[in-house]
Amino acid sequence: MNSLARSFLKTVYLLVFFLAVSCALAAAEEPTPKSSNLTSNPVYQKDCAKCHGKTAEGRHFGGPSLLSEKTSSASADDLRGIITNGKGHMPKFSGKLGSDEIEALVKLIKEANAK
Ligand code: HEC
Repeated sequence: MNSLARSFLKTVYLLVFFLAVSCALAAAEEPTPKSSNLTSNPVYQKDCAKCHGKTAEGRHFGGPSLLSEKTSSASADDLRGIITNGKGHMPKFSGKLGSDEIEALVKLIKEANAK
């Protein structure tokens, strides 16, 4: 085998090796297929977590827990209204979030409380 063929083979081996490694890495990085929830929602993390906490269980000087008797007994309309128009120290998000984003949060809060 001449040296040209040998280096060609080496290149092929290297390519195959890198392909295998990157496939393995891609597979490892694939997020575990778990349904998205309130605290993993990017809008929640950006706009709500600073007051309601990373785990949605509230913060002392911020907002109350969103996993509560109160939120679970509130209707979707109530929740939508509070998020859209604010309440007390809770700011309104009507101009900040789209109605689809608010709707998604309402759904996620309901789901979080249904558990
Ligand atoms: C500046 C702090 C702050 C931010 C930011 C904030 N909240 Fe609130 N939130 C509050 C406070 C304070 C209350 C309690 C209001 C009251 O009952 O007077 C509240 C109440 C609520 C309630 C009603 C809970 C209950 O027990 O009555 C919901 C639902 C809610 N917030 C959802 C959200 C969502 C969703 C976001 C993000 C889009 C958000 N909040 C962002 C402070 C905040």
